[in-house]
Amino acid sequence: MIALGVLVSGSGTNLQAILDAIAAGTLDARVAVVVANVAGAGGLDRARAAGVPAVVVEHTAHADRRSFDAAVVAELRAHGVEVVVLAGFMRLVTDVLLGAYPSRVVNIHPALLPAFPGVHAQKQALDYGVRIAGCTVHFVDAGKDSGPIIAQAAVPVYGDDDEEKLRVRILAREHELLPRVLQWMAEGRVTVEPVGGGRTRVRVRGAGTAVGV
Ligand code: GRF
Repeated sequence: MIALGVLVSGSGTNLQAILDAIAAGTLDARVAVVVANVAGAGGLDRARAAGVPAVVVEHTAHADRRSFDAAVVAELRAHGVEVVVLAGFMRLVTDVLLGAYPSRVVNIHPALLPAFPGVHAQKQALDYGVRIAGCTVHFVDAGKDSGPIIAQAAVPVYGDDDEEKLRVRILAREHELLPRVLQWMAEGRVTVEPVGGGRTRVRVRGAGTAVGV
């Protein structure tokens, strides 16, 4: 069983998907702590409702990103966290967090990376006119949504879609994909290997890593 630390900024539906998968017995993990950078994050209530420690580390109380990350890492370590999940966490992380958890920080992003990193990914996809959209779970590196991809799930884009319709369709796949990836990690099936040129790629033993295509 792996100990997860889940970082949230918003409503925390992906956190809920993790908690539900644990309760259903499909994810062999425990959420050791939930950390939010804003006191109003809905994810904090979801954590408390599940009996999980919920901590606020206000980013505004820190002079820079690295000192904020150091405070977050202190909480994660205090709760015995092994794998860090960015689940709607709207802060760029630094070497302080990545160094404390090398190849142990995963993010969920609502686009098929490397297309449409950053904010408003669904709007970017609609504006571009792609016909297939989706979500990506990847290891976090120093870039913006640029780390090695672990798994992706696809959804169709329809002619009458707006940002909200597409967001909801993608989010449903996020809720499936993220617990599934975490279970692969709990089973020790996910490894990162170099491919040259300073880049790495992820290998997942015995699992299909493209969903919905
Ligand atoms: C998700 O779309 C996730 O991909 C993005 O932020 C959103 C978080 O939603 N990084 P929630 O807080 O898990 O409901």
